[in-house]
Amino acid sequence: MNKALRKAVIAGNWKMNKTPAETAELIAAMKPLVAGAGCEVVLCVPFVDIAAALEAAKGSNIHIGAENCHWEHAGAFTGEISADMLTAMGVEYVITGHSERRTYFGDTDVTVNKRTRAAVEAGLTAIVCVGETLEQREQGITNELVALQVKIALGGLSKEQLKKIIIAYEPVWAIGTGRTATAEQAQEVCTVIRDTLAALYGRQAADGVTVQYGGSMNAKNADELVAKPDVDGGLIGGASLKAEDFSVIVRAASK
Ligand code: 13P
Repeated sequence: MNKALRKAVIAGNWKMNKTPAETAELIAAMKPLVAGAGCEVVLCVPFVDIAAALEAAKGSNIHIGAENCHWEHAGAFTGEISADMLTAMGVEYVITGHSERRTYFGDTDVTVNKRTRAAVEAGLTAIVCVGETLEQREQGITNELVALQVKIALGGLSKEQLKKIIIAYEPVWAIGTGRTATAEQAQEVCTVIRDTLAALYGRQAADGVTVQYGGSMNAKNADELVAKPDVDGGLIGGASLKAEDFSVIVRAASK
């Protein structure tokens, strides 16, 4: 009911895919297909592809994001990239707390909070990912768990800083599995997220936050998912690697 208060955002998460040359090619193919979209269009790409992505997206409505950032400004953190390095390049968005980072690379709610705070303090918009495993869903603890993930991730962030936060609800069991949450399941948890934000920051601030769904979202199911009142777009994995499919999702969120 309050969809007019916030913008729909369709963000691609390329994960560990595409070389710089392939990046330029894919963005060149996407540009005409998403031109004039009625939603924000973002592509979060591997660090080594950022320069090529920014160059290829120049003059278009495609915004570029990264897939992770460290919480320190600089220092002895081999293999990490700081939020300042990203803004220095012209990056506008960064994903924090993706379940693959949590599962394979030891990210915890606490480090997700640190990364998110660093991102926002550097001026980036953080796409903060939360979501339950299948086991947790079957235990009936999804809503409490997701609310707690949101609370910890946003610890220490002010109401003003909340304007630079997007929450992506990504049920782990739906990621890369072809098993999408139903639109009702997505709506239920996105509402829990918004209510959690309202408890922390007040209803008006919560109504302004973009809450996305992610997990096997594709050209076929996007319409139904983004039509739900609390689903303000999506975080797209596999389908964001195909120009045509991604543009269909962008159009679904532009209605
Ligand atoms: P898929 O769309 O490939 O399921 O990936 C979703 C995701 O993890 C986006 O961050």
